[in-house]
Amino acid sequence: MDIVFDPVTIVEVGPRDGLQNEPKTIKLDEKVRLINLLSTSGLKQIEVGSFVNPKMVPQMADSGLVFSKITRRPGISYSALVPNLNGYEQAKKCSPDAIAIFCSASESFSKANLNASIDESFMRISQFISLAKKDDILVRGYVSCVTDCPFEGPVPASNVAKVVAKLREFNCYEISLGDTLGKGSPGAVDKMIDNVLNEVSVEVLAGHFHDTSGLALENIQVSLERGIRVFDTAVGGLGGCPFAPGAPGNVATELVLKYVQGKGFKTGVNMEIIMQAAKLARDIRHV
Ligand code: HMG
Ligand code: MG
Repeated sequence: MDIVFDPVTIVEVGPRDGLQNEPKTIKLDEKVRLINLLSTSGLKQIEVGSFVNPKMVPQMADSGLVFSKITRRPGISYSALVPNLNGYEQAKKCSPDAIAIFCSASESFSKANLNASIDESFMRISQFISLAKKDDILVRGYVSCVTDCPFEGPVPASNVAKVVAKLREFNCYEISLGDTLGKGSPGAVDKMIDNVLNEVSVEVLAGHFHDTSGLALENIQVSLERGIRVFDTAVGGLGGCPFAPGAPGNVATELVLKYVQGKGFKTGVNMEIIMQAAKLARDIRHV
């Protein structure tokens, strides 16, 4: 008898986390083409863009237009990354299915990424979180620097657990653990998850691994062993965070699909379409 595993959910973050770090301006039509193709692949969650200071992340300045031009398919959650009330108000005009809020487990990265201490970032979130509830918009949460910070080095797992607990208070339906630098060793990731599980159950967790050191798949394996079944990926391995020096792409969607499908997990995602999207992602970077 075959062993049947729980399904694994892939959250495609390429259009946001991937493209935000591209030095060359990506045309609006190319972003729309990429998202429309991804929408035919069986993916159920796509992060479309972000509503942040455009002087900090120029590549995401047209996220409102991207939302207005994509063809939204039923059954797919199209989300937007939002740092503050201003971003929430812009996102709301696009009727996202979900917003993603983001905090850091390290003070220095919080300052670099959000111009705020960790507590100040919680204050900002509290200014719009109740609006999201009232407006019936789901909220996903990210914690950055779950093992390492570009400025402070290793991050204590207990810091991550505290931020996760706060995101749960904010009613996040899912909390994504971000190895922003892709430096986390499987041992460090395992210890971090162990600490986080003191605060929340495994069903609300997702893994978000950048692939700097080629360790993302090993870290996904550790996460799978801990029971995590949701992973953020970027088609074609696009991306990185502009405020984390040395953070290149997210782990590639096609790599993770091959890995988890090879282990017997169903994903509902069509590999052929993802390979076409990966080619498109590569092409639009280089045109
Ligand atoms: P601030 O400078 O403290 O904000 O930045 P402010 O309120 O003083 O405003 C400064 C300027 O930004 C003003 O414009 C505002 O109008 C404008 P100016 O007067 O200079 O012309 N502004 C905005 N514009 C558009 N949308 C907004 C917005 N808010 C203010 N929402 C702020 C605070 C949060 C805005 C800023 O630090 C920011 O935008 N940070 C986001 C940086 C970012 O996008 N980083 C990458 C995403 S996070 C990530 O990649 C990690 C993740 O993938 C997980 C992982 O890998 O770890 C999620
Ligand atoms: Mg990221």
